[in-house]
Amino acid sequence: MNVDGVAYRSIWVNADGWSIDIIDQTRLPHVFAINNLTTLAQACAAIRDMQVRGAPLIGAMAAYGFYLGMREDPSTAGMQLAYQRLYETRPTAINLRWALERLNSALREIEPNERTARAFAEAEKIVALDIEINRAIGTHGLELIREIAASKVPGEAVNILTHCNAGWLATVDWGTATAPIYLAHDAGIAVHVWVDETRPRNQGASLTAWELGHHGVPHSLIVDNLGGHLMQHGMVDLCLVGSDRTTRNGDVCNKIGTYLKALAAKDNKVPFYVCLPSTTIDWNCSDGIREIPIEQRDGREVSEISGKLASGKVTTVSIAPDATAVANYAFDVTPARLVSGLITERGIFGASEKSLAQAFAKQNSRQPE
Ligand code: MRU
Repeated sequence: MNVDGVAYRSIWVNADGWSIDIIDQTRLPHVFAINNLTTLAQACAAIRDMQVRGAPLIGAMAAYGFYLGMREDPSTAGMQLAYQRLYETRPTAINLRWALERLNSALREIEPNERTARAFAEAEKIVALDIEINRAIGTHGLELIREIAASKVPGEAVNILTHCNAGWLATVDWGTATAPIYLAHDAGIAVHVWVDETRPRNQGASLTAWELGHHGVPHSLIVDNLGGHLMQHGMVDLCLVGSDRTTRNGDVCNKIGTYLKALAAKDNKVPFYVCLPSTTIDWNCSDGIREIPIEQRDGREVSEISGKLASGKVTTVSIAPDATAVANYAFDVTPARLVSGLITERGIFGASEKSLAQAFAKQNSRQPE
């Protein structure tokens, strides 16, 4: 998508033809910085420190990270090390494991001297697939927005609430929850996005607002607690969020706070849709609340906040008494019963085991090729 008129993706191969460039998302929105990654250790740090984040992008970074690991040591021990190091970076988004498994199967049976080239090719395929999938999610979600727009006074904006950043920065391109929004905006449908700031790391304020702004999509930044009020007053037509892991029966694990939005949406009869690539479905899991590992992060993400001073300097300040105990759970699970539908690359489906199984039955492996 566009940044000051220039088309960018969140991750790409450097002009040198082998190293990997990423947009450093820890510096946005105030600094647009590109980091060049040349080692497995740097790839792991990029995921762990959230220079790259968002389930699909974590998968793509893991694939390139595996490839960088193969440049360092393509032996079977080197493969195990790359797998393990990358796997340990973040626990919740299932795309990480999906990408690593895919690389592992592709490389296991070939000679070590062929592994670097093969890993690079597989990573490139994962990147291309992600873009294709998100575009397809966008076209299905667009129809939903079109229907809502048709029910409104001509020209009146469709108000969409989103949480965290499930935008192009969270994927390779397009985003999941934002793909229908970008397509609707580009098709001339009036849309307006309520952007949850998404404490503690403020992915909404610093990333979603940034990318919507650069694409010219009208939006308003709101505190996380405003959504319920807006819904009670008929000011939200549709909620669109992403997913880090979806169980085979349609429970959705996403950024902390998603569940409360789903409850408010249910209470106010606001459609609550989750946009997800099938790479985010964990077919082995049927109880999101009990089975999905929820990442707990450094308490300083809660007790401190970063921002730009009037001088232009970006700094971090403390917002709690020193030594306050903090709990920082990064994700929660929205039970399937609160989800109006799952928008996937194959279409829109009910959040249920039957519906998902039917939708993906024809795939041998149930994962996209
Ligand atoms: O902790 P993050 O920023 O990686 O969490 C991101 C989210 O929760 C997104 O909503 C999710 O990964 C879907 S991204 C298309």
